[in-house]
Amino acid sequence: MNDINDKTILIVDDEPDIREVLAISLQDMGYRTVEAENAAMAFDRFQEEHPPIVITDIKMPGGDGIGLLRKIKHENTETEVIMITGHGDMNLAIRSLKYEATDFITKPINVDALEIALRRAREKIAMRRKLQDYTRSLEQLLKEKTELQDHLASLGLRIGSVSHGMKGLLTSLDGGLYLVSSGLNKKDYQRAEEGCQAAQETVQRIRKMVLDILYYAKERELKRAPVRISDFAEDLVRVIQPRIDGCGIRLVCDFDKTEGTMQVDADYLQAALVNILENAVDACLKDHRMPTHQIDLNITDSDDEIVFSIADDGIGMDKDSCDRVFSLFYSTKGRRGTGLGLFIANRVIGQHGGTIKVASKPGEGSVFRVRIPKHHLERNPEPAAQPLKK
Ligand SMILES: Nc1ncnc2c1ncn2[C@@H]1O[C@H](COP(=O)(O)OP(=O)(O)OP(=O)(O)O)[C@@H](O)[C@H]1O
Ligand SMILES: [Mg+2]
Repeated sequence: MNDINDKTILIVDDEPDIREVLAISLQDMGYRTVEAENAAMAFDRFQEEHPPIVITDIKMPGGDGIGLLRKIKHENTETEVIMITGHGDMNLAIRSLKYEATDFITKPINVDALEIALRRAREKIAMRRKLQDYTRSLEQLLKEKTELQDHLASLGLRIGSVSHGMKGLLTSLDGGLYLVSSGLNKKDYQRAEEGCQAAQETVQRIRKMVLDILYYAKERELKRAPVRISDFAEDLVRVIQPRIDGCGIRLVCDFDKTEGTMQVDADYLQAALVNILENAVDACLKDHRMPTHQIDLNITDSDDEIVFSIADDGIGMDKDSCDRVFSLFYSTKGRRGTGLGLFIANRVIGQHGGTIKVASKPGEGSVFRVRIPKHHLERNPEPAAQPLKK
């Protein structure tokens, strides 16, 4: 209801003098008034104006005030209706209270009595609104509580599955260390070397999992520093290369004009890109249509932004998966994935004021494109993952 409607009172009386006197008094009190001379016209005006308060004569030719009161209450129970009664109308007045009239005032109208009745009506309106506000905030609180419960429940489930994943990784670490020690005992240095490599890879995976969980538990401020783009690119390849080697996957790098520097949190940006590259590796390994696969890592450096494009020819994704990849805990890898990777990558890229877009089709591979402004501007609070036309 707008302000004008809030201040509007509908006056209903067949006597023009009474309507006029009432209108003058009410306008003096700051109200806007509309008038009607009988019950039928009054109901029409009521439907046009939706006034919160109606003052009506209890007895009128052609339809009495009580009939009007009932129709108005039926239309909107929250309307406050004050009845004007004459001598000998006591029974009618009592009946009107039964139909939830707010109050009644007697003719000749006394301004003080009118003011008291209006105050009661306004108090009832204010009280009802407060109650509605309380109910709304209670409903909101209840909704938030349910969401929090769901979140905790899914977090509990996830912690369970992450612990399982961690247990698996620790077993594989044990296996690597066993190879190292048995290789050393038997002076089989190749065996020891293999064990060492397996252990290093597992440690790297445990580190990523722990970092992801830490980041998820508490979003941290970025620690930006100027980074040479070529150094960053070299580090990125150094970290991902061991995962790619020996999988029958070729990593093809094209770093165009990466001479400049960028102002980023290198650790977190690297972790985000490593996750995208690891996903690309997983997608290639899952695809058995071809014996070998290729991942293209392109980095282009323009005046104000740097674009990382990671394309694989792996299994690809349908539209529904593309829409969900950045959602918390979305994973199709069972115990091998936490579903935190792209959620966090999206958040980190958003914190850098950048964007991440994905384009993919089942059987045709995927492309992830990450754009990062090279220099520190305003912090972009909302990560902006969007679909990308491949
Ligand atoms: N290049 C890709 N090709 C096909 N599917 C992909 C690709 N990248 C991501 N996905 C899908 O998106 C899901 C979510 O990826 P995300 O990195 O968030 O989690 P995850 O890799 O399953 O687990 P983790 O948290 O350990 O990274 C993956 O499980 C996979 O189904
Ligand atoms: Mg991942």
